[in-house]
Amino acid sequence: MSDIETLKQESRIFNPPESFVKNAAISGMEQYKAMCAAAESDYEGFWAQLARENVQWHKPFTKTLNESEAPFYKWFEDGQLNVSYNCLDRNLQNGNAGKTAIIFESDDGKVTKVTYQELHDKVCQFANGLKSLGIKKGDRVVIYMPMSVEGVAAMQACARIGATHSVVFGGFSAKSLQERIIDAGAVAVITADEQVRGGKHLPLKAIVDEAIGMGGCDTLRNVVVYKRTGGNINFVSGRDLWLHDVIANQAATCEPEWVEAEHPLFILYTSGSTGKPKGVQHSSGGYLLWAMLTMKWTFDIKPTDVFWCTADIGWVTGHTYIAYGPLAVGATQIVFEGVPTFPNAGRFWDMIQKHKTTIFYTAPTAIRSLIKAAEADPAIHPNKYDLSSLRLLGSVGEPINPEAWMWYYKNVGRENCPIADTFWQTETGGHMITPLPGATPMVPGSCTLPLPGIMTAVVDETGHDLPWGQGGILVVKRPWPAMIRTIWGDADRFRKSYFPEELGGKTYLAGDGAVRNEKTGYFTITGRIDDVLNVSGHRMGTMEIESALVANPIVAEAAVVGKPDETTGESICAFVVLKRARPTGDEAKQIAKELRDWVAKEIGPIAKPKEIRFGDNLPKTRSGKIMRRLLRVIAKGEQITQDVSTLENPAILEQLKLAQ
Ligand code: WT7
Repeated sequence: MSDIETLKQESRIFNPPESFVKNAAISGMEQYKAMCAAAESDYEGFWAQLARENVQWHKPFTKTLNESEAPFYKWFEDGQLNVSYNCLDRNLQNGNAGKTAIIFESDDGKVTKVTYQELHDKVCQFANGLKSLGIKKGDRVVIYMPMSVEGVAAMQACARIGATHSVVFGGFSAKSLQERIIDAGAVAVITADEQVRGGKHLPLKAIVDEAIGMGGCDTLRNVVVYKRTGGNINFVSGRDLWLHDVIANQAATCEPEWVEAEHPLFILYTSGSTGKPKGVQHSSGGYLLWAMLTMKWTFDIKPTDVFWCTADIGWVTGHTYIAYGPLAVGATQIVFEGVPTFPNAGRFWDMIQKHKTTIFYTAPTAIRSLIKAAEADPAIHPNKYDLSSLRLLGSVGEPINPEAWMWYYKNVGRENCPIADTFWQTETGGHMITPLPGATPMVPGSCTLPLPGIMTAVVDETGHDLPWGQGGILVVKRPWPAMIRTIWGDADRFRKSYFPEELGGKTYLAGDGAVRNEKTGYFTITGRIDDVLNVSGHRMGTMEIESALVANPIVAEAAVVGKPDETTGESICAFVVLKRARPTGDEAKQIAKELRDWVAKEIGPIAKPKEIRFGDNLPKTRSGKIMRRLLRVIAKGEQITQDVSTLENPAILEQLKLAQ
């Protein structure tokens, strides 16, 4: 991966293609600057106007921003709306009833198209079905679903009746699922019998059973099961119901539940530097507004576009840029069940060609693994496919290194497509810093400039602005409509994590480091400044993985660090002390495998350490603090040049260096 110094030196500039600029919603830097200036001069007026123009309000708002309980900001608080109404009914009124909303491609390549009318009817039946189970406004519903039309419909159905959904990624374990059901106080789980990925059938319902079997899910009444494969599953009578039975005979219309703008649309769990994952709570009005605006600004969405975001609905990207944003702006989008490498690593390019995709949004990890695959097998190189439908590319979830950026630009975009390197987070609801495709000159490896109305800055630990060229911490100085509202059930943690006193209590702390280019002011993200790792664009807390490891009866102590990885960005490296003698050779390999499987069971396969090293001890200061910075150096295989004089047991460093 590229280091920061190299990134700071990057001087290649790529201007947006003329053909793109001509028809772009925001064309040229003048327009961008004018929008930023409008936000500067009348912040509330800027947002109020956009909210009136974009969202269909049931009851218009009169107050734009309430800062009286900062950092618990309220946006458009006396307005009422329904997000599902904005995504579906609006399109029926706009003449989009017969337009394709979703092109669904299953793992085995079967394609199903759903129009806006059909999606509306499906969601209404689903919503009526949920109501028939007694689910109502304010209830929480956990969604543990494969990528499917039904998955999107489940989210929309919750929104329609005012239930707050919490989607759990299908790769999380029973234990992770159980913790989320309990924390959210969910009354129902919507799941499928199985999911199909890369030709393999993976259980979902069985994991739900296991999660509930662990106990504590006292609020849960029902499990609704979508039949995806017809695989064998257990049914608990009275609790479990087939989705097709729940929606049978339900009307295809459902009066939306009008909710206040601040009503929680969803909770999405994400990792922090300490403790258990936190339930990031998002609003209805402000969130929807930003989902729509970023579809228009960043993706320059047009009625003729075929939009494809490859994320899973289990992550925030799949919320904003699959379940909500594209529908709210009436776009046609692709929803894909499978993986990029099945039946071969040309799957993405094949699907772009087949569906004439115009906007393609994926993660750097996927790009890097497809570069490797294309180099190994020229038959699946993107230049073997007709990708001429593409007009815009996007990148999300982690830094994109300049090499991967150039390859994406040349081989996928054929030097005709701008790349939107979108920096944002689960907490921000939508894009924050990104080039505007018809305006911003691009620099590989830089997410460039904040969107209009987003007041990002680089500051020191005390909250003071740093000059361009100097690295510091990334903050957002003013609230924005799509921001996180609180951590579900833990307002105190919300305040401490995101609005720390040291920064004055009103400045949003992103948790990333950043530096601005001395000449252009462009932002480059330098990585997390807390104990959060980013593996393949998946966010994970080192403490979470350590807790999982020490929960194993044979483990005495564990320390987890990130290690730069060519494909996944970072990889997980764990240093482990066992309660028994330090294993070596085959025994070490065997125990490492057992521990990896253990972590997969505790959290999910995405949290499996790539590397586990055993030691008699861990490097500690005299006061007993584990020196993680030394472990990071050892993990990288580099020489330790730091001062180790405070170390109580320096000999351990040699042992850990050799341990494999
Ligand atoms: C963290 C947020 C973005 C939504 C999906 C992930 C890193 C994200 C970029 C980017 C550099 C990026 C940051 C951030 N990140 N996008 N374009 N360039 N870093 O959301 O799971 O909440 O993770 O991902 O470190 O804090 P998330």
